[in-house]
Amino acid sequence: MKIQKNGQAIIVDCPAKINLFLESHGTRPDGYHELETVMQAITLYDRLVLEPADGIELSCNDPSLPAGAGNLAHKAATLMLKEIGGRGVRIHLEKNIPAQSGMGGGSSDAAGVIAGMNALCGMGLDVDRMAKMGAAIGSDVPFFLYGGTALCRGRGELVERINVYFTISYVVCCPNVGLSTAEVYKKLDKIGLTTAQHGATFLVESLKTHNFAGLNHSVFNRLGQVAAALSVEVSTVMATMREASGLNATVTGSGSAVFVAVDSFSRAGEIAAELGKRNLGRVFVAQSERPS
Ligand code: C5P
Repeated sequence: MKIQKNGQAIIVDCPAKINLFLESHGTRPDGYHELETVMQAITLYDRLVLEPADGIELSCNDPSLPAGAGNLAHKAATLMLKEIGGRGVRIHLEKNIPAQSGMGGGSSDAAGVIAGMNALCGMGLDVDRMAKMGAAIGSDVPFFLYGGTALCRGRGELVERINVYFTISYVVCCPNVGLSTAEVYKKLDKIGLTTAQHGATFLVESLKTHNFAGLNHSVFNRLGQVAAALSVEVSTVMATMREASGLNATVTGSGSAVFVAVDSFSRAGEIAAELGKRNLGRVFVAQSERPS
C-alpha cells in the first residue's frame, strides 16, 4: 500500500495479492476454515482518494459495484468513524483489480480506507491496532495493512511477516466469470480433501533463501481443484497457462484468477503475450510489491 498527501486529500494505492500457498486445515466452530496461507502483495492497484466531508460519501468508477453500505470500503469508513470518531470522509474509488477474482481487491480497499483515514485525521493508530479493526471487515484485511509477504493463519487474519529479498514476476489471467468465495468454500466442504494435507514450510523456506525452483514446485492452493470443478473457464485457463508456461498454475485465493510465478519479468511478458492470443480473459503482468 502506498499513501501520499495531495493538498487536503489522501491518495492510497491499494495492491492486489497472490496466494502462493493455501491449505485448509478443516472447518471451525464459527463456520470459517482454519487456513495456512502465504500471501504476497503485487503491483496491480486500486486507487482511493479520501477527503474530509460530513458523513460518508462513496463514489466508484465502476457502476457495477455497490457504492453504499455493501461496499467493504464503506464498511471500513463506518467502522473507523464509530471506533475513532470524526466528521466523515468522501471516498472516490478507482477499480483496476477485478472483482471476485481472488486477488483481494475489496479487502485491500478496506485496508486502504482504514490506513488512509488514519492519515487524513491524524489519528496516529499503529498498524497492529488497525489490523485488529480490519479483521472485523474481512479475513484478508489485516494482511493488506502489513503488506509485503506473509504467512497467515486462523481465518487468514493472523499475520506473520516474511522478509523476501528478491522480486517475483507474475502472469495473472482473469476469466470473464468471477467466483464467490463463500460458494468455493462450500464446495470444498462437499468435495473434501482429495490429497493429503500440505504445509507451507518448504515454500516459506524457498522464499527466504531465494530458491525459485523450490518456490515454483511448492506453489499450492487447496481451492484450485474446487474452483476448476465450479467453473469450466477456470479449469481451461489453468490448463492453458500450464501448457503455455511449463509452470505450476493455480488460482489465487478462491479464484477465478489463475497465476504463474516467473523468475524474470521479460519471460512473464512472453507468457502474457502468448495467453493474450487465446482470448481467455484479462491478462496482467505484475511483480511482488516491496513493503514500504
Ligand atoms: O472473511 P471474508 O468475509 O473475506 O470471507 C468471505 C467468505 O469466505 C466467508 O463468509 C466464508 O464463507 C469464507 N471463508 C471461510 N474461511 C476462511 C475465510 C473465508 O470459509 N478462512
